[in-house]
Amino acid sequence: MQKKSFVWSILAVVLVLTMALSACSTPTATPAPTAMEEPTTAPVEVEPTTAPEAPVATEAPTMASGQVEVFSWWTGGGEAAGLEAMIKVFNAKYPDIEFINAAVAGGAGTNARAVLATRLQAGQAPDSWQGHAGQELIGTYVKADQIEPLNFLYEENGWLDVMPETLIPLISDNGNIYSVPVNIHRANVLWYNPTVLQDNNIEVPTTLDEWFAAMDALKAAGMDAPLAMGEQWTAMHLFETIVLATLGPDKYNQLWTGELDWASADVTTAIENFNKALTYTNSDATSLTWQDASQLVVNGDAAFNVMGDWAEGYFKELGKVAHTDFGWTPVPGTQGTFQFLSDSFVLAKNAPDRDAAIAWLTVAGSKEGQDAFNPVKGSIPARSDGDRSLYDEYLQSAMDDWAKDVVVGSLTHGVVANDSWKSEIDTALGLFLGDKNVENFQSALTAACVSSGPCK
Ligand code: GAL
Repeated sequence: MQKKSFVWSILAVVLVLTMALSACSTPTATPAPTAMEEPTTAPVEVEPTTAPEAPVATEAPTMASGQVEVFSWWTGGGEAAGLEAMIKVFNAKYPDIEFINAAVAGGAGTNARAVLATRLQAGQAPDSWQGHAGQELIGTYVKADQIEPLNFLYEENGWLDVMPETLIPLISDNGNIYSVPVNIHRANVLWYNPTVLQDNNIEVPTTLDEWFAAMDALKAAGMDAPLAMGEQWTAMHLFETIVLATLGPDKYNQLWTGELDWASADVTTAIENFNKALTYTNSDATSLTWQDASQLVVNGDAAFNVMGDWAEGYFKELGKVAHTDFGWTPVPGTQGTFQFLSDSFVLAKNAPDRDAAIAWLTVAGSKEGQDAFNPVKGSIPARSDGDRSLYDEYLQSAMDDWAKDVVVGSLTHGVVANDSWKSEIDTALGLFLGDKNVENFQSALTAACVSSGPCK
């Protein structure tokens, strides 16, 4: 008997040693800069290197400690407060992990994403970073092999039952799911100042023509720039919503699949509409952040601003009151369509603090995390089981629209085009904002779809 148990003990020691040695030979804790870590601003063609791996059943750590570095661009009004609310949930659940907030300022991630690209290239990835569901994620980070599949987290937490079916394909590749969406934002919102409209006997516009007529009336009444706009990405945001208003959802979608010719007359009309909208904007747009521009509306210095619903988070932070200081409606001509984007968080390949990063992602995907973050951020939870009573009137209306509207993706916020295509569009837009040459802009857009997108 004794001899037998001795043999078992020896066998057990050998087994433990073997496991320990094999664990040592596959280090996961140190970043290993490799040629695969391509810059995200100019993704290169990277062939899928491996067949989709079977999801690994990894335990979500409950005892993780140390630190986790989380990278985002939520530093400003409304946004930082949302992130803080989620960090609070994280700190309560994981008191032994230090949360390192590596946010870099700049709306829509314009600065942050450049910093991130440099870090990824240098093999200094943060443990987890913010990335938009859609082409930004799949066509950039997945393509460059910079992030880990998270199927195990979905399985452990039952997330496939609560995350919308619309979203899963946008964060998946080859059967692997690559990020944890925290929210759904709406891009095609027209924010307006109810008092300014009332004082000028103007109805909330429902078509582009009504909107332009309203702005003509406001200009005639002495308001120089009824439509507030900020730095260049906010011009792209305005552009995409006007393209949607002009084309409708089907043709809008076809632009991103290559089925609709960018050289078509429909696109010419869209650009002309955008050009007209620009005539109502403020001349100092390039020096204003999105917060500055949306503030012009609640202050009564402008009547309208087209912005995602993070603006609502900002208005609330400023203490502004719905229906008195601000009102909302779909961008004229886009009723019944919900142009969406989703902020999601990823797990870096070779994350320096992998267990702590998994703890962070577990909170980001949880009902508690999402219900703390979204009511402040001005977005609705990605999960379908959020507690509706925590959300204000605007957000409840967004929940209703998300459930019934036709859903299309945003260009500016990463859904429909990868980084390289978007950056070509951005360059063309920059030139157009200077010279207003419709023909040149359309040719550049047509060329961008051929060189970076799906057009032949
Ligand atoms: C978007 C992001 C939003 C919001 C916005 C303005 O790209 O998805 O969460 O932060 O930029 O910064």
